[in-house]
Amino acid sequence: MSLEQELQFCKELFAHFEGSLQSPRATPVPTQFVSMWDEFRNALDTEGGFQETLALLLSMPANACDPGALNYAGYVPNSALPLARGVDAYLSVVNAVAAGCIDGQSFVQAEFAVADKLGELAGFPADSRAGTFVQGGTLANFCALAAARERWRRRHRSSGSPVVMGARLTHSSLKVAARLLDMPFIPVDVTAAGVIDVAVLREMAGRYGSRIAAIIGNAGTTTAGSIDPLDAVGELATRCGAWFHVDGAYGGAVLVSARHRQLLAGISQADSFVVDPHKWLFCPYDSSLIVYRNAPEVHKELRIFSQAHESDAEYLKFGFRHMAENHGPEHLPSDHEDLALQLSRRPRGVVLWALIAALGVDGLGKYVDSAIEAIRHLYRYATEKNVRIPLAPQLSVLLLSHEKWQTNRDWDVNWVRPAFDMGYFVSTDNWAGETVGRLCLVHPTIMGEDLEALVDLVAAG
Ligand SMILES: Cc1ncc(COP(=O)(O)O)c(C=O)c1O
Repeated sequence: MSLEQELQFCKELFAHFEGSLQSPRATPVPTQFVSMWDEFRNALDTEGGFQETLALLLSMPANACDPGALNYAGYVPNSALPLARGVDAYLSVVNAVAAGCIDGQSFVQAEFAVADKLGELAGFPADSRAGTFVQGGTLANFCALAAARERWRRRHRSSGSPVVMGARLTHSSLKVAARLLDMPFIPVDVTAAGVIDVAVLREMAGRYGSRIAAIIGNAGTTTAGSIDPLDAVGELATRCGAWFHVDGAYGGAVLVSARHRQLLAGISQADSFVVDPHKWLFCPYDSSLIVYRNAPEVHKELRIFSQAHESDAEYLKFGFRHMAENHGPEHLPSDHEDLALQLSRRPRGVVLWALIAALGVDGLGKYVDSAIEAIRHLYRYATEKNVRIPLAPQLSVLLLSHEKWQTNRDWDVNWVRPAFDMGYFVSTDNWAGETVGRLCLVHPTIMGEDLEALVDLVAAG
């Protein structure tokens, strides 16, 4: 393919982007699994060329959801604004790299700036906070627990395996991270509101004492959107000398909402928190932010992520890379790789920087508020229709239950598939041993009225 042909190819792709940016409102919902194996696999052996490849590429969205569309209310959706999708495409086209502070310096600084802004909103101290962007909440949570384990080992001069504590509803990524890091995860019961039972936590913390490396506070559980009492959990973590990590992959987004920010009171005590811009902060996949309260501790003392000081990493040491005076505030690490498990990567955090720069924190906050308002509307609507609601929504998740629908199959047959047929993407979960329907909204302009038909299905069942 000549350069001219490549450019023409891109122009046609971009023309398609423009259409998607203008009407990102509805996503196709898969009513069945469509195998496209033969087309995709054969294309790699036949050199179909420009037109066929373009056609195959442009056919892909028809058989895949856009989780940022209005009719997508399953799992945790995505809320990418057109502006954010455009900036993300720009980052790919300019081929920006954020591994080091030399080649990617402007991008890297914009990322540090927006991480600092989120740290400020959480109430972290200005002279020590810093953060970085990784692929997703799973990796960000892993990094937080890795830092916690390292701190525990140093303090206890031990290479042993401490434990991690958190509510039973803690996201699976933290349970897997604890397992990979050889730290048993100790699940703590939750109350009827889906938040960690602090009395039980206290009792269990007393039992494990100095063996606790980290206590997790959930700022928005995936199942119920419930927020642990971060004040009380943080206080206890401090008393135990444990790392306090807040998983706000989904709910951390309310940091930008002036109206709802106080729901996360206590996050200011955390050693680290995670928030995923690719969930409820209006950025496309993939993007997760981890912010540390005391970044110098992570990059200068614990030094678990930094690759530059490894003996076979001489190629990373050149130019002004290790001259702190060239890198702005003294507490910032020279490179993002000092704060997380990563090296070469795209500066995905620049998308969030651009959104806040263009729309302001309050502008984004109002979008967050509208999803909360939409779920509250649906809660009121469901109550009026006598639909059983296991717990009142705290953020933008609503659980629906039905006395006759107890199993996944019951819900698939009576609710999920009919919803798919009506053009909505929804999913289910489990609450107190029973399968429940679950709606999660993060779309910036979603209205509760748009989804009343989904509640009607349960009411009529
Ligand atoms: C609360 C919470 N934490 C962590 C994760 C994992 O994030 P990711 O899918 O970006 O790896 C999720 C995903 O839904 C989540 O809801």
